[in-house]
Amino acid sequence: MSIRTICCIGAGYVGGPTMAVIADRCPGIQVTVVDLNQARIDAWNDPDLSKLPVYEPGLDAVVGRCRGRNLHFSTAVEPAIAAADMVFLSVNTPTKTKGVGAGQASDLRWIEASARQVAACAQGHTIVVEKSTLPVRTAETVKAILSAAQDVLPGGGEPKSFAVLSNPEFLAEGTAIPDLESPDRVLIGGEDPQAIESLAGVYGQWVPQERILRTNLWSSELSKLTANAFLAQRISSINSIAALCEATGADVQEVAHAIGADNRIGSKFLKAGPGFGGSCFQKDILNLVYLCGYYGLHKVAAYWQSVVELNDWQQHRIARLVVQSLFGTLTGKRIAVLGFAFKADTNDTRETPAIRICQDLLEEGARLAIYDPKVVESQIAKDLSCSTDPDLWHCVPSPDQAVVGADAVLVLTEWSIFADLDWAHIASRMRHPAWVFDTRLIINQSAARAAGLNVWSVGIG
Ligand SMILES: NC(=O)c1ccc[n+]([C@@H]2O[C@H](COP(=O)([O-])OP(=O)(O)OC[C@H]3O[C@@H](n4cnc5c(N)ncnc54)[C@H](O)[C@@H]3O)[C@@H](O)[C@H]2O)c1
Repeated sequence: MSIRTICCIGAGYVGGPTMAVIADRCPGIQVTVVDLNQARIDAWNDPDLSKLPVYEPGLDAVVGRCRGRNLHFSTAVEPAIAAADMVFLSVNTPTKTKGVGAGQASDLRWIEASARQVAACAQGHTIVVEKSTLPVRTAETVKAILSAAQDVLPGGGEPKSFAVLSNPEFLAEGTAIPDLESPDRVLIGGEDPQAIESLAGVYGQWVPQERILRTNLWSSELSKLTANAFLAQRISSINSIAALCEATGADVQEVAHAIGADNRIGSKFLKAGPGFGGSCFQKDILNLVYLCGYYGLHKVAAYWQSVVELNDWQQHRIARLVVQSLFGTLTGKRIAVLGFAFKADTNDTRETPAIRICQDLLEEGARLAIYDPKVVESQIAKDLSCSTDPDLWHCVPSPDQAVVGADAVLVLTEWSIFADLDWAHIASRMRHPAWVFDTRLIINQSAARAAGLNVWSVGIG
């Protein structure tokens, strides 16, 4: 079946960029991205491309080329499903907060709701693609919901039929567009060879065939959880060694370089920092932990749980270090926080290490002046679960304004502009003795030291 119309349910960090690239690379396919969130859809349709709800380098240009041509954003979910040959489910799957599996299992209520919508509105044969990251065997649930609709023949019309595929997304925020345009691999899991080839035909319009991997449904679902668990494990591993470097006089950058030169290890994802963030790593590992526990593999569950625990520890460790360095108390002291997003080149703050670190500092009585080039103040207010209070924390429009009268600068995101800060100028605006805490190994340390600042850098003993 050659695909002519696609509907994607969920216009978030995955649905938006993924569908924009599909529309860009497949001009013969009409792509409609639908969402219940009117404000989000309005932002995707904003004539000013700098106001798209997701910040990703290069995304504005792709949307600018396709929107209105073969890329559409809408809240009209039902007609978009009815018209589609293929429906992607790209809805959120956060960790459950209550009930069975709370704190570990994924909350599948949005997947279930969108599968029910597809069951109700689809017409003819529809290929349903799980794009969200899902626990292994979720496709069974999706299939059960769809097959209940399959049995009901709409008054005299053509019977509905469905095929379900798993097609997890491996893009990384901050590099989503190059990741989508030139993926290391595309993974398609399924049982229906025709459906698999239909989806492979979409990707095949720009991805070389040898990079399109075909597996069974369960391998595909599990591969996504496993990929994120392995990536997060590398971050926790290098952060554990960073702490040891600090204690022993070693330099984590030198250690990372030395071990990364071994091609069995590889050089990527060996950067020490304040811990991993983003909506996926923690949630997907916890999901894996839950699955292992469910299948009685308690040792395996504990092994992966420790990756998350080390990440939590690293964030609290950094906050404690700040307190200790500033004579054991932060009461009334001003700290300039540079960067709030969980990584550079995104406006996403979900699970950002900045949340926990800032909360720890606020609890110690610090006053925070926060600067991030892309995160809006209302988002930070939500994340810190406290309304804007200039006496506690506030946002400022530049690093320069953050540092006035500050006792410390805390760099939490590796935005490239932080590599070029003028430390002599910054030092002249701070209260002394003054500190810089570089959790990303991004600043010019020698310039900061030369300006008379005390410098702490993660992993440097
Ligand atoms: N963010 C990433 O980097 C990334 C990478 C790979 C995979 N994933 C996975 O992709 C999935 C989506 O992640 P995201 O970051 O795009 O989430 P998101 O929260 O940014 O977007 C999800 C969107 O789905 C919408 N939605 C929920 N239920 C709906 C329904 N019934 N009808 C219409 N719209 C509905 C929400 O309003 C929201 O806008 C998750 O499972 C996530 O684990 C995310």
